[in-house]
Amino acid sequence: MIKSIGVVGAGTMGNGIAQVAARAGLDVILRDVTDDLLVRALGTIDKSLQRDVDKQRLTVEAKREIIARIKSTTVVADFESVDFVVEAIYEDFSAKAELLKELDRVCRAEVILASNTSSISITRLGAVTSRPDRFVGMHFMNPVPVMKLVEIIRGIATSDQTYSDTRELAEAMGKTAVEVNDAPGFVSNRVLMPMINEAVFALYEGVGTPDAIDQIMKLGMNHPMGPLQLADFIGLDVCLAIMNVLYDGFNDSKYRPCPLLRKYVDAGWLGRKTGKGFYQY
Ligand code: 3HC
Repeated sequence: MIKSIGVVGAGTMGNGIAQVAARAGLDVILRDVTDDLLVRALGTIDKSLQRDVDKQRLTVEAKREIIARIKSTTVVADFESVDFVVEAIYEDFSAKAELLKELDRVCRAEVILASNTSSISITRLGAVTSRPDRFVGMHFMNPVPVMKLVEIIRGIATSDQTYSDTRELAEAMGKTAVEVNDAPGFVSNRVLMPMINEAVFALYEGVGTPDAIDQIMKLGMNHPMGPLQLADFIGLDVCLAIMNVLYDGFNDSKYRPCPLLRKYVDAGWLGRKTGKGFYQY
């Protein structure tokens, strides 16, 4: 029975995962490298829960209890007693591998280690640990408190027990779990990112303005955000990195990133987080 969860990385995804887990009644330990980052993450969680208090879907007392279930730390060794771990640090294989080796040493042998990676191979990440059978992809969507999906990715060595425990945990967190096998971009980003990239090509070739491209997909296809608006929301650096994973992983030119996407990233125009992407914020 999973009663406590360790979340590594207190950024957008990590703090969302911590919030949803605590709201589901789990004890959470949230880890990042500095106290400043942790304070910021707890502030984001507070603000997100306050939306529901304001809408009278959560009492002030319940909000206080959820926040009290989240402990923050800068020390990985504090994970020695948790029942499950989700890694949600930045998308870099070496950084994730180093962290996973440390978690592998600290966590009890039966604990499942999960990665929220958006595109790095689960098989490859699992292989750096001594427990590839207890390693799995648990891919949450942004914003985590709102989006229903958790894409569960089975690496080549992931056991059936690990898969079913992870699925149960996702469901206990109020999410719908969908099972996929390990492949570049899994299913979510293999389908989403080429669409976003194609929208950037349409802009690059002058087929339409950003607004026209986004309106077409919003009004014509019922997407809640247009692809360029969504790219700004996800981060253009993240979109480019995922396109590169698809391009390198399949060796197929259909996944080549649009030169305009590359140019925006080179300029530091990364979307909402830098105040400028395809739109100004
Ligand atoms: N925390 C808590 N609640 C939030 C929230 C947050 N960060 N952001 C939005 N909400 C809630 C609002 O309170 C509101 O709740 P209500 O309808 O129950 O009152 C609801 O979500 C809708 O929010 P808004 O009215 O403020 O705004 P929108 O209607 O424009 O919705 C959106 C915002 C949910 C972000 C919507 O635009 C959307 O679904 N966009 C697409 C998001 C998407 O595609 N995400 C996946 C990205 S890909 C990914 O994550 C994978 C990675 O690997 C790249």
